[in-house]
Amino acid sequence: MSSYEDYNRVSRSYDQTRQPIGLSIVLDGIAHCCAPLSALKLIDAGCGTGAYTAVLSDSVPNIVALDINEGMLGTAQKKCETLPVAFACASIQAIPIRDGAADGILNNLVLHHLPDSESEGYPAQRQVFEEFARVLRPGGALVIGVCTREQLRDGFWFNRLIPQAIDSCCKATAPIDAQIKMLQDCGFAVDEPAIPWDETLQGDAYFDRLGPLNPAWRDGDSVWSLAPRAELKVACDRVQEMEADGTLANYVADHNTIRRKTGQITYLCAIRK
Ligand SMILES: C[S@@+](CC[C@H](N)C(=O)[O-])C[C@H]1O[C@@H](n2cnc3c(N)ncnc32)[C@H](O)[C@@H]1O
Repeated sequence: MSSYEDYNRVSRSYDQTRQPIGLSIVLDGIAHCCAPLSALKLIDAGCGTGAYTAVLSDSVPNIVALDINEGMLGTAQKKCETLPVAFACASIQAIPIRDGAADGILNNLVLHHLPDSESEGYPAQRQVFEEFARVLRPGGALVIGVCTREQLRDGFWFNRLIPQAIDSCCKATAPIDAQIKMLQDCGFAVDEPAIPWDETLQGDAYFDRLGPLNPAWRDGDSVWSLAPRAELKVACDRVQEMEADGTLANYVADHNTIRRKTGQITYLCAIRK
């Protein structure tokens, strides 16, 4: 279960603003396991509404998509009902697949939802990496998508409106260098991080300057659910004030220039040694 987002509610609107991005990086990362994509068994670990599952199934016909939330999984099942995808309601902390049975794992934007502890060095995240190492065969490929702390701070025009939420989100996962070290400790050879520079997680909806006022739009990014009620009100008031005095469009444009220097998501591609 996410430690802070109500994904049963979110599953009803998530797909209005979210779309799979970084697909060429993801496919290249999976292809590193040195077997034809058509012969792979891939796990979409934390599949959400199945946005990646559906697209990847064109190239990878044997996918097991798992998620801990029934609402998100139900939406994924509907989306993929005509596709050869198997589903499981399960946690990435205990994947119901035997040792070494998978050729590839995609884990996109899930780690920050684990109940974890910064002061103890993120034991839940480390345990998940051990679990990934258990189910992947030697030579199997792991692709992890994360928003780094820098991307959380600078990659989204609206994030400076909700600094407390961003602080909480930054603490929810280990810094990228620590993640790489943990993966190496768990038996992975990790490539240089890759960033899809020109893509935004919410597609065109990302540029909707009045989006923060709309709860369904906010459901497209779980960072909003980390904002205390008072912070959310201040952020919405600020958006309305800037719209009224004609400065909001420039605010979005200026922050979008910064976004181009960080991107919004970083992919770690790794091979199980
Ligand atoms: C931001 S969504 C990402 C979904 C999908 N990977 C994507 O990129 O579209 C996070 C998903 O992780 C799932 N999740 C959170 N903790 C999980 C866990 N321990 N095991 C499996 N899924 C989990 C949530 O239910 C949610 O569907």
